[in-house]
Amino acid sequence: MTERVRVVVLFGGRSGEHEVSLMSAQSVMEALDPTRYEVLPVGITREGAWIVGDDPLAALRREDFAGTRPVTLLADPTRRGLWRLEPREGEACLALLSRVDVVFPVLHGTFGEDGALQGLLELADVPYVGTGVLASAVAMDKIVFKQVCRAEGIPLTQDVALTRRRWEREPEAVLVKIEGRLPYPLFVKPANLGSSVGISRCDDREELRQGLDEAARYDRRILVEEAVPAAREIEVSVLGNEAPRASLPGEIIPSREFYDYAAKYLDEGEEASDLLVPAPLDEAMTQRVRELALQAYRAIDGAGMARVDFLLSGETGELYLNELNTIPGFTSISMYARLWEAAGITYPMLLSGLIDLALERHAENARTLRTLRRF
Ligand SMILES: Nc1ncnc2c1ncn2[C@@H]1O[C@H](COP(=O)(O)OP(=O)(O)O)[C@@H](O)[C@H]1O
Ligand SMILES: [Mg+2]
Repeated sequence: MTERVRVVVLFGGRSGEHEVSLMSAQSVMEALDPTRYEVLPVGITREGAWIVGDDPLAALRREDFAGTRPVTLLADPTRRGLWRLEPREGEACLALLSRVDVVFPVLHGTFGEDGALQGLLELADVPYVGTGVLASAVAMDKIVFKQVCRAEGIPLTQDVALTRRRWEREPEAVLVKIEGRLPYPLFVKPANLGSSVGISRCDDREELRQGLDEAARYDRRILVEEAVPAAREIEVSVLGNEAPRASLPGEIIPSREFYDYAAKYLDEGEEASDLLVPAPLDEAMTQRVRELALQAYRAIDGAGMARVDFLLSGETGELYLNELNTIPGFTSISMYARLWEAAGITYPMLLSGLIDLALERHAENARTLRTLRRF
């Protein structure tokens, strides 16, 4: 029997979506084919500590780290692998714990999905699932992402971007500027979060003030957008590196006024948001969203996977690209996996496909000349 691929599954993290990551990671670890993969679960605490142990997922859930041990990955590619940090004679020493063939970051939001971790993995020279540094960072930043997509001619909502500092220093001027450019209702968002954290819908100036204060708690930069009237939430899964494929679109019927944190994760049973697979759209619209999803994916140099989200106005019929998630919610019943399931790609097949893509991308990058020795 050939040796199994050793997959480090990373979860938790210093992010508002820590708990969401734990749900996704549990699904991933349960479904990775044990005949092909040897899973090494590595948790990241809310403080950013990397831990291994019997069950780091349970430790993170309990927030009790007895029985776990600290590990680290070095930025130095000549010292590959996962290293244990051992206290020895009053000092911390490093001891090699395990080889790492591929890293599967099942982390959402800051430090996991935004290119920061991907930068470490590039330095360490280990293959990893999903998008690289650039695409991760661009997709995470709602302001820059829209600028890149706008340059491609992809339809987007009108918006105003500003810094927290500007809001704090000249609030009246900011309100006048926004109201001069965009009609109510508005959506206010921190530039770099996910799971609807810090997002508000604002119907008047007072709500706009509150929305800006709220968003400013979570980011240095803020995005204000026109609201899409009677927005339908259409999502497409994309998979691939050089020749990405787009799934049929799905639709979310949120359980609340908009698809906020509670509608995404808290409402259960009868109250839960509904997922329609495929979305009830005509053939032309179906093709259009799939093409736009691929266009956005290519525009940011996507790799591995992404879920591309649209808002379709139930009032005007206008379609807008909303955002692209490079590490979308990843349980087996999440939209990303459901859309592939409907296309005949089961969840375990999806996971092994993503690992193959990670290895392929790493090999492709290895072909690139990095150093020039002239003497
Ligand atoms: N411009 C908009 N018009 C209407 N609804 C919006 C708009 N922007 C966001 N929303 C609603 O808010 C939700 C969260 O916004 P989104 O930009 O997707 O942030 P997140 O990255 O947190 O998912 C969307 O799924 C949608 O329900
Ligand atoms: Mg969203």
